[in-house]
Amino acid sequence: MAEEKTILVTGGCGFIGSHFVRLCLKEGYHVVNLDALTYAASESTLKDINESEPNYHFEKGYIQDRPLIKSLLLKYKPCALVNFAAETHVDRSIESPNQFIDSNILGTFTLLDESRHYYDDLDPAEKTQFKFLHVSTDEVFGSCSGEPFPEEAPYNPSSPYSASKAAADFIVRSYFHTYGFPVLITNCTNNYGPNQFPEKLIPLMIIKANNQESLPIYGDGMQIRDWLYVEDHVEAILTVLEKGKEGETYNIAGLNGEVPNKTVVEELCHILDELAPRPNDLAYKDLITYVTDRPGHDFRYALSIEKIKNELGWSPKVNFKEGLKQTVEWYLKNKWWWEEILDKGYKANRMGLRKTA
Ligand SMILES: NC(=O)c1ccc[n+]([C@@H]2O[C@H](COP(=O)([O-])OP(=O)(O)OC[C@H]3O[C@@H](n4cnc5c(N)ncnc54)[C@H](O)[C@@H]3O)[C@@H](O)[C@H]2O)c1
Repeated sequence: MAEEKTILVTGGCGFIGSHFVRLCLKEGYHVVNLDALTYAASESTLKDINESEPNYHFEKGYIQDRPLIKSLLLKYKPCALVNFAAETHVDRSIESPNQFIDSNILGTFTLLDESRHYYDDLDPAEKTQFKFLHVSTDEVFGSCSGEPFPEEAPYNPSSPYSASKAAADFIVRSYFHTYGFPVLITNCTNNYGPNQFPEKLIPLMIIKANNQESLPIYGDGMQIRDWLYVEDHVEAILTVLEKGKEGETYNIAGLNGEVPNKTVVEELCHILDELAPRPNDLAYKDLITYVTDRPGHDFRYALSIEKIKNELGWSPKVNFKEGLKQTVEWYLKNKWWWEEILDKGYKANRMGLRKTA
């Protein structure tokens, strides 16, 4: 339990950030959430907290806005900064990479640099408390053909998204080695769970199935991802923040989470057959279609989580089948949440196909 400690969270109106905000409040922290409210954010996600929680403050703005970052650090005097804010969709990074360079690289650099100046002026006791935790992805390691990658595996990113995250990770590491600035990095696998923006595979398929639309799987659907339930993920991040060793990186992955995309969609169809049967005994899997693959689609992502298990005592609790069922149930019960996103103009159109001359 925290004693009047404030965490500055960036990107807290997005999918994972919003779950982290809730967990930190539950654990007794004060939370300041800085979010630019891009297309990927939903103000409704934390509406209940915004209206009733005295230990929560929302600030609208970009992580690239240096004067804003400086003023927030001085105003709230956080004991930690956790950076979730990023452009996150690979297809969008193929379509238009500019915003990924701006938010993911320049934004992270701005946060880091202003936090270092803030840290330099803290008194020695406050300095021992302060941490800068940067949330990254398994995609920085590239496709995995053997044993799951450990933290020290070389980076080999292949999309503008993963390259922008890799660049940010290197800058974060450099601040530890060069300035002794207390950073932590987490690299996690594919998250799923409630409140994920409907452009990502699992919510997209649930919403399309609910609307009796075709379920488009990229390529042959044999690409493998490791699926991490979002509540397991945010617990792991808080564990790293509270117990992690400065300058270190920790991998985070799911419980029995490695599944080909095709199986994810088929499994989801079985769950929907049970929870919300189609008329006339039709099966949801009959809606599946196979479409042109993503350019440069990595075949498999996989991370070893021995380090976080052995050194910090964290392990994932939710296995993929159980988590997927909970997720489908949430999207069926909370249609208002995603219908609001569709009403605001999100069309679920295909993006990021390589343009031919
Ligand atoms: N979702 C996953 O499966 C996954 C996997 C690995 C790593 N990650 C990383 O976790 C973090 C959070 O991912 P997510 O899926 O919750 O993202 P998301 O797209 O759901 O949300 C991103 C949030 O950041 C905000 N944001 C974007 N750019 C900003 C900027 N420049 N300044 C301020 N706010 C900004 C958006 O408004 C949004 O609320 C990201 O850094 C992502 O790279 C995500």
